[in-house]
Amino acid sequence: MGIARRVGFSAGVSDIPLYQPVHQPVLLREAVEQLAVRSGWVCVDATAGEGGHSLALLQASAPSGRVLGIDRDPRSLARAERRLSQFGDRFIPAQGNYADLGQLAQGANIVQVDGVLLDVGLSSWQLEAAGAGFSFQRDEPLDMRFDPINTWPDAAELVNQLSEDELGKLLFQYGEEPRARTIARALVQARQASPVRTTGQLVKLLEAIPGLGRGRRTHPATRTFQALRIAVNDELTNLEAGIKAAIDLLKPAGRLVVISYHSLEDRLVKQTLAYQAASCVCPAEIPVCVCNHQATVRIINRRIIRPAPAEVAANPRSRSARMRVAEKL
Ligand SMILES: C[S@@+](CC[C@H](N)C(=O)[O-])C[C@H]1O[C@@H](n2cnc3c(N)ncnc32)[C@H](O)[C@@H]1O
Repeated sequence: MGIARRVGFSAGVSDIPLYQPVHQPVLLREAVEQLAVRSGWVCVDATAGEGGHSLALLQASAPSGRVLGIDRDPRSLARAERRLSQFGDRFIPAQGNYADLGQLAQGANIVQVDGVLLDVGLSSWQLEAAGAGFSFQRDEPLDMRFDPINTWPDAAELVNQLSEDELGKLLFQYGEEPRARTIARALVQARQASPVRTTGQLVKLLEAIPGLGRGRRTHPATRTFQALRIAVNDELTNLEAGIKAAIDLLKPAGRLVVISYHSLEDRLVKQTLAYQAASCVCPAEIPVCVCNHQATVRIINRRIIRPAPAEVAANPRSRSARMRVAEKL
């Protein structure tokens, strides 16, 4: 593993190991701008990945600012650490779930922060090189765990053990897959002959379902893979908890930036921020407020921020990104 490598020397360049990231950070300039990072700030990159956003936050907060870089995937965090080693203890790596942001910050002796970034989902490195079964374009073990040590069940276990009804619901709920029941039936039938252990086997089974993917712009396996990954990593529960934990940790006027990549995530981000921004959450039919709810943030952008056409052209994976920003009251 590892793409960090030493390159030849050129005049005036010292022997710095050149780290070659696979993942291109999405909405990078916009994230730093929206966080309004200043020198000396303490920020959290709650999804450090390969450290692309952390790098920009460290540069923007130089010379003394710090970044707590969290990732659930220990393999990714190791890559971020290596990439950002030049920043010494200004980059504080922490392996864990952003839903536990409060504890992770406490572990790093951080009480409050100036900004939090959540760039959710998975990185290009995880898709292309982690060997963890995230991509339907590779034949790998059907795993999909961000944290292979602390997470169970993996995707193979779900595919082989859930009932047809449970599998159908999972595919519908997390993949918004209209043919969820048909796929569940096909998988349950196939696993009776032999368990589904690899992404290659799963893709073959999906491709054999007549008409699956007809009229779609995406591969017939796209929604099934998304659904399994979300379920394995309990992504939506963690996202909601992560947003709340981030708001708790922010100083007044500190900002939270969330970048998401599909409608399920974005809907949840929108709803969670709207709830946090509301001064009353009583049902509409109650004439007088009885909830005592207090707004914790104000929404900064009513319209979502999307990558500019030039970014999408340079990095097609950025095309589905949507950014929402809130400021702590
Ligand atoms: C889109 S990538 C981030 C890429 C990063 N911004 C960069 O520029 O390299 C999302 C990252 O979030 C991590 N992740 C997903 N769910 C998480 C969770 N609940 N807690 C912490 N990290 C999580 C994934 O392992 C992945 O590395």
